Amino acid sequence: MSGPKRKVYIRTFGCQMNVADSELMAQLLADDYDLTTSPGEADLYLVNTCAIRRKSEAKVLSLLGELRSLKRRRPELIIGVGGCVAQQEGERLLAQVPHLDLVFGTRGIYRLPRLVSRAARERTVDVDLEEGCAPPPRRRWAPGKAQAFVTIMQGCDNFCSFCVVPYVRGREVSRPPEHIIAEVADFLAQGGAEVTLLGQNVNSYGRGLAEPVIFPELLRRLAALPGLRRLRFATSHPKDLSPELIGLFGALPVLCEHLHLPVQAGADRVLAAMNRGYSRQDYLEKVEQLRAACPDLSLSTDLIVGFPGETEADFQDTLDLVRRAGFHQAFSFKYSPRPQTRAAALPDQVPEEIKTDRLVRLNELLGEMQLAAHHRLVGREAEVLVEGRSKRSPWELAGRLRTNQVVNFSGPPHLVGRFATVRLTAAHPHSLRGELASGPPPA
Ligand code: 5AD
Ligand code: SF4
Repeated sequence: MSGPKRKVYIRTFGCQMNVADSELMAQLLADDYDLTTSPGEADLYLVNTCAIRRKSEAKVLSLLGELRSLKRRRPELIIGVGGCVAQQEGERLLAQVPHLDLVFGTRGIYRLPRLVSRAARERTVDVDLEEGCAPPPRRRWAPGKAQAFVTIMQGCDNFCSFCVVPYVRGREVSRPPEHIIAEVADFLAQGGAEVTLLGQNVNSYGRGLAEPVIFPELLRRLAALPGLRRLRFATSHPKDLSPELIGLFGALPVLCEHLHLPVQAGADRVLAAMNRGYSRQDYLEKVEQLRAACPDLSLSTDLIVGFPGETEADFQDTLDLVRRAGFHQAFSFKYSPRPQTRAAALPDQVPEEIKTDRLVRLNELLGEMQLAAHHRLVGREAEVLVEGRSKRSPWELAGRLRTNQVVNFSGPPHLVGRFATVRLTAAHPHSLRGELASGPPPA
């Protein structure tokens, strides 16, 4: 191609996996397009979407509405929608949004360059979930990048009755371990230090591979790579959390003392209706085993209130489980009926006001617990990986402890992307404050 390269703007909604997917999109398009941060100068505008709750979907539709005027001003602009909403809606999105040129599903990413060229000539849809995942190209890492998300598997086979993921991300497919290890080694060779492995249910990693490898084995192989300082993973399904994996906490030094283990609800009846495959007792026993293996482990979770048929007594069971499990952090949601899922068709949908009331009460408890967990850390010195400038005050730095809590402190900008030792001085609901104790000198 001659002349300056065209420009692509990518707007990402949803989870870390979408963030990783957007990065992959940019890389796949890099021969023809440079990434831009200003939508006004884009030749290609891509939206990577999330369908997990109705609210997430509504945000996407409202952005698409806003893009109409941009397209009117620049008719040659190509607008594409990818990811979970695109997968779910397919052709319907083209019909609904007249200024849309391209709809590509969660596995269409790999075919993106071809799809974009076609979309320049005619409106295009690709929501094929069957065509397997092509191996992603060798990733390029931004210079100085300390943290990376590495997707180790696609899709989900669990079919929790509330969840749209198996429908929009397809069946579970694991990446071969040698690809993952090569990608991580490459990242570390360029100065990377922290890696988060991503999958909908990492504990079932390896099923269906030519040479099956279980998840703990993958962790051990990665932990042996020189340069790795912190290893994390998300998400774990409690039913597949094996004793072997539990035993790695506290035993593999690079494995961070943090686990995200979504429980969703605390009543057995609700867990069964959700098709989660464990009871509250099973979950609490796993928590106990985790704490025995690693007393400093911080535990985070996801919770849903107002699942169809949830009574006040069921909700009380959730509050009780939350107290017993002693979560350090939690993400809580009102149940949102999703297309195709079994729960959407269940009788006894819970009225919106009751969902809201339960969410408020749950969040009150979670807020107290999170603050108490932060208070317990005050007075300690801890290692922080500095992620950037703090959101609230740009003259401050923000980073994370190994246990995943956010710490804000004053320090020189050269610490971004590096490890510092910070004295924790105060607890807030969503973060800790600290004072720099020591850090590396400017490079
Ligand atoms: N309604 C509300 N929350 C949901 N989640 C998944 N599906 C739904 C839904 N239909 C939540 C779960 C999951 C997190 C990523 O989103 O708690 O763990
Ligand atoms: Fe959804 Fe359940 Fe799969 Fe998680 S494990 S992605 S909640 S179906």
